Amino acid sequence: MEYKNLTCEIQENIATVTLQRPKALNALNQEVLSELRHVFTEHLTREIRCVILTGSEKAFVAGADIKEMDGMTPLQSRQFARSGQLIFESIENFHAPVIAAVNGYALGGGCELALACDIRIASEKAKFGQPEVNLGIIPGFGGTQRLTRTVGPGKARELIYTGNTIDAQEAHRIGLVNAVYTPEELLAKSVEMAKTIASKAPLAVSLCKKAINMGSNMDISRAIEFEADLFAESFSSEDRKEGIEAFVQKRKASFVGK
Ligand code: HXC
Repeated sequence: MEYKNLTCEIQENIATVTLQRPKALNALNQEVLSELRHVFTEHLTREIRCVILTGSEKAFVAGADIKEMDGMTPLQSRQFARSGQLIFESIENFHAPVIAAVNGYALGGGCELALACDIRIASEKAKFGQPEVNLGIIPGFGGTQRLTRTVGPGKARELIYTGNTIDAQEAHRIGLVNAVYTPEELLAKSVEMAKTIASKAPLAVSLCKKAINMGSNMDISRAIEFEADLFAESFSSEDRKEGIEAFVQKRKASFVGK
């Protein structure tokens, strides 16, 4: 498929997906969403060990496309929200970690997209917010749930009820982003983290992601039992044999992802 609104570059086993709809500040219309769905569910293969999702200098994503939403009936708006939610779930459940490298605005659906990623790294110029209440609507791509789970209910309620925008430093302070860099450093630092992740045992990293994602929706006893199941799965891998053997032989492990 030829993408009109994004590019996907693969170097070794790291993919960089860049949203490219700068005239509308990368606003998510149905076409952008369907390209995002395609790239994560059909284009990227099991060999990929980490993905960086980024935008353009001014905007990561300024939200769902307000002009497109304007023409929707309530039923269509529900379908739009659901289809976006399912696409964001495919990013959340992608086999390898996804790092959101947030350059500029991450508002509404843009903040929700960053929240569906595993890790968020921001440029000093990034701005975050859920401004939906300014438009008479609510977050509909998972924001009420993922923001609450990420920063806790107190801060999530404040951001969602006031519609206030916060800068990168405040986003860092409340745990919405992991680190803040200059705009020039942002991609290089994201690639550095992606390379570190990609150098580890891929199946183990993938199982860690599964344990965190699925365990966070279970009660603690069930979640740790699930962790034990996945631990055993990692233990039966070739990479476990290689990793432990390499430690004993004082050499660098070479992982194959099996
Ligand atoms: C459609 C958008 C857009 C959006 C910006 N644009 N955001 N188009 N949907 N979400 C367009 C503008 O209309 C304009 O195009 C161009 O991008 C540049 O934007 P400006 O407003 O001129 O830039 P600036 O003055 O710098 O302001 C930047 C901004 C502002 C603060 C980010 O654009 C803004 O407030 N955008 C809306 C943010 C928002 O409310 N997001 C939440 C959407 S609701 P033209 O052609 O007019 O010049 C949402 C719901 C998710 O996300 C759940 C759905 C189920």
